[in-house]
Amino acid sequence: MQRYAVFGSPIAHSQSPRIHAAFARQTGVSMDYVAVEAGHGDFAAKLAASGVQGANVTLPLKEDAFALCAETSSRAQRSGAVNTLLRAGSGWHGDNTDGVGLVRDLTERHGLDLRQRRVLLLGAGGAARGVAPALLDAGIGELYVVNRTPARADALADAMGEPGRVHARGWDALPALGGFDLLVNATSASRGGTLPALPMGLAAPRSAAVDLSYGEAAVSFLAWARAAGCSHAVDGLGMLVEQAAESFLLWHGVRPETEAVYAALSGQGDALVTAD
Ligand SMILES: NC(=O)c1ccc[n+]([C@@H]2O[C@H](COP(=O)([O-])OP(=O)(O)OC[C@H]3O[C@@H](n4cnc5c(N)ncnc54)[C@H](OP(=O)(O)O)[C@@H]3O)[C@@H](O)[C@H]2O)c1
Repeated sequence: MQRYAVFGSPIAHSQSPRIHAAFARQTGVSMDYVAVEAGHGDFAAKLAASGVQGANVTLPLKEDAFALCAETSSRAQRSGAVNTLLRAGSGWHGDNTDGVGLVRDLTERHGLDLRQRRVLLLGAGGAARGVAPALLDAGIGELYVVNRTPARADALADAMGEPGRVHARGWDALPALGGFDLLVNATSASRGGTLPALPMGLAAPRSAAVDLSYGEAAVSFLAWARAAGCSHAVDGLGMLVEQAAESFLLWHGVRPETEAVYAALSGQGDALVTAD
């Protein structure tokens, strides 16, 4: 049986094994997918010892994964981050499905039209780097990248290579930025810190907001978004399922249906049956 895994830290509560087991069951693919706790110091050794055909990589290893790949897709190169590894001879091919996962969730599941939209991206870490190129490819009008550490926002904006469309700002610039059609929280502030207060004026009456984290971690930003008048306030569960489907397609050549898995994980559908 082919082996796959997700590497990261902390990884115990990752939903990826359940998602991939459900996809495998649905498509008749025979595979094993496990979660492996790994940090900067031991990721490369654990990956080499794992015997996997492919892997997902999550916090804090996406840049590490990019660095160890012999070859990378153009979307991974633009992100400087890899969330999907495929075996390529004796080395690894790296790809990044986070951005396409977010865009698919917003456009297909939530029916949003991203074209010409004015977009605020809060954060400039691995997730922000993953989604920025895909948002630009989806035809948004302007992207404002705002980060606590301004130099990282500058670096992300520079890496996009579109100075007319992508602008970096510090957190203190937020009150002067006006309203946005789409607000994306790509910070990890909910993991032990708090997001600085956001001006209500960032949201316009028909704005949409998405927090890339999900569950409890997304509650505070999404509550702010609703209070600020956003018509859509969604968490990152849909993105998680869609990026997983895209990884599954890369590994197995078949794209699984995502709706039932999304419904089960969000508590709206039947429970996931993943055991054989
Ligand atoms: N739904 C999905 O499929 C999916 C996929 C990937 C990631 N995610 C989620 O996205 C989030 C970010 O992940 P990541 O990989 O980008 O993490 P990361 O690389 O560690 O980056 C964290 C980002 O959050 C900012 N930040 C952290 N604490 C903050 C605070 N108290 N106030 C303001 N900014 C703060 C950091 O700013 P500095 O640069 O100043 O440190 C940085 O921009 C996580 O919650 C992760 O679970 C979801």
